Amino acid sequence: MRRMVKPKVFVTRTILDQGLNLITGYCDADVWPGEMPPGRGEILEGARGADGLLCLLTDRIDGAIMDGIGPQLKVISNHAVGFDNIVVSDATARGIPVGNTPGILTDATADMTFALMLAAGRRIVEGERAVRTGSWKTWSPAFMLGADFARATLGLVGFGRIGRAVAHRASGFGMRILYHDPSPVIPEPGVAAEPAELHVLLREADFVSIHTPLDNATRHMVNAAFLASMKPTAVLVNTARGPIVDQAALYEALRSKRIFAAGLDVTDPEPLPPGSPLLELDNLVVCPHIASASWATRARMSLMAAENLIAGLKGERLPNCVNPEVYAKEK
Ligand code: DGY
Repeated sequence: MRRMVKPKVFVTRTILDQGLNLITGYCDADVWPGEMPPGRGEILEGARGADGLLCLLTDRIDGAIMDGIGPQLKVISNHAVGFDNIVVSDATARGIPVGNTPGILTDATADMTFALMLAAGRRIVEGERAVRTGSWKTWSPAFMLGADFARATLGLVGFGRIGRAVAHRASGFGMRILYHDPSPVIPEPGVAAEPAELHVLLREADFVSIHTPLDNATRHMVNAAFLASMKPTAVLVNTARGPIVDQAALYEALRSKRIFAAGLDVTDPEPLPPGSPLLELDNLVVCPHIASASWATRARMSLMAAENLIAGLKGERLPNCVNPEVYAKEK
């Protein structure tokens, strides 16, 4: 009787059981055990000879890594919807499909966006600190005033899945919604959102929330000029990718009260170094890239990443592929 040889895969971190069980059932899996991400050398060493790679947004995967793994590499599955950590053009040039996890983290990310809007706009973290440190003495009429939500204007920079889900939440809060998206946008049912040029959105929005991918066009898009175009009472929120914001410019805008506050789930680098001047600011709320960190969402992400990986190993089309042109090339 012939034994079936299982495909060999390298998984760059322990993912949730839902996905991991699927992978270990089908593959000979080597799972990086560390709490910290593997370095380049460790990825190369662990993945050399693998048929599949499941990686995280903390792993930079480029052509040199792909070549080091070897020509047998059939699939790269990213455990994230964003895929700026992978040089996709390098994968495409090698005919390797790259998978991601779209859709399933939309609601969790939109919830986190709103949580940051509320936390930064209503000074929740600053207020909590005042209570804990005993610096709050008594209720007083002008103490810790913050932003209103009802009838305020929300400016969404990017109106894809997550931007739209934020718009639904904002409608419930009675906000006016503007969006700016350079790609063609179809209207979102149930939401009265108006398209706007970026300069108009920045001029009118009380909250500006970033929902674009990170690419050459959006790197440092939120720079000094962008921030200078916002209202001095406005709040900036970023749950997309850290490098979209020029953090030196943001520091200056927050320090000088050029804008009221910011809420960041993502930074550059992650985490911010302990001495980062941003961490000295009371009008910044910063979280450790947890927008998708809800139980069900992370379980679904692990499953979706596992399904992409296994489809690629079987030579099937990935259920969610960011470079479908690899299939066209085969014909
Ligand atoms: C993603 O999937 O791109 C998020 O940033 C991580 O949850």
